[in-house]
Amino acid sequence: DWSMKSFVERKVAEIRAKVGDKKVLCALSGGVDSSVAAVMVHKAIGKQLTCIFVDHGLLRKDEGDQVEKVFKDTFDMNFIRVNAAERFLGKLKGVTEPEQKRKIIGAEFIHVFDEESQKLGKVDFLVQGTIYPDVVESGGTGTSATIKSHHNVGGLPEDMDLQLIEPLRELFKDEVRAVGTELGIPEALVWRQPFPGPGLAIRVLGEVTEEKLKITREADAIFREEIANARLDRTIWQYFACLPNIHSVGVMGDGRTYSYTVALRAVLSTDGMTSDWAHIPYSVLDIISRRIVNEVDGVNRIVYDITSKPPATIEWE
Ligand code: XMP
Repeated sequence: DWSMKSFVERKVAEIRAKVGDKKVLCALSGGVDSSVAAVMVHKAIGKQLTCIFVDHGLLRKDEGDQVEKVFKDTFDMNFIRVNAAERFLGKLKGVTEPEQKRKIIGAEFIHVFDEESQKLGKVDFLVQGTIYPDVVESGGTGTSATIKSHHNVGGLPEDMDLQLIEPLRELFKDEVRAVGTELGIPEALVWRQPFPGPGLAIRVLGEVTEEKLKITREADAIFREEIANARLDRTIWQYFACLPNIHSVGVMGDGRTYSYTVALRAVLSTDGMTSDWAHIPYSVLDIISRRIVNEVDGVNRIVYDITSKPPATIEWE
């Protein structure tokens, strides 16, 4: 695409001129925006950029490894993965209140990121994947009540005194994807669905435990695989498994079971502000339901969430 190509060239030149021989830092989440921003800056200044990827242990199945593979192997970046799962789970132990979970994760994220970046010596710039809708949103009046405090890797260390590099500020999401494709970022990453900063911690309702995370991850992986098989993966805005904190009675073979219920959530939306539940064909839901109860230990019932936003939110917490 010619226009994307010239956009990339212009930005790359701008970044080079701005950075000179200084060091640049980026907090990678594996999301579309931060990934595209990082690859663009890397194209401009190569190893002067260091990316820090905080793996909080709340990602989806295999996600951390995929992110590492792309940035370390495909792009050969200075890439630091911090495996901080134990730290985050430790802090979350016994915590059940959704807003508290978000706050704990946000604060811990900054701690971990700060610790890692201290080790790099003097850094002058920070890359952020801010896109045009974020710019518009933060320029709002700020009078609306907080429904959920959004933790994003966007809100990073204020006291670090870094200049921002925000190469995507003029772009809408579809343009960010086009730029990502132009830069050679794998499709799976360019088309990744939105994923909340606190990750599976807000999809495992109530206390977050390793066991509940595992069940959620496995069920979610099956759901995503079947949505892709049904070729619905680019029309549905978000689709994921969530684990309500309930057990119910079931029967398997000759025995009674008392196991978890998995809830499936899939919504159509253009911006996440409002949404309709996705009318996934019954035949597809049927395959998904059978596969999850057969393949995931500890699950004996599947329900499908048929509420729009409002009144429900997209995430359950
Ligand atoms: P809700 O659940 O509020 O979600 O309808 C709207 C959109 O925002 C995402 N979301 C979050 N993203 N940190 C994020 O970065 C968060 O804490 C968070 N909570 C919700 C959600 O996945 C949906 O796309």
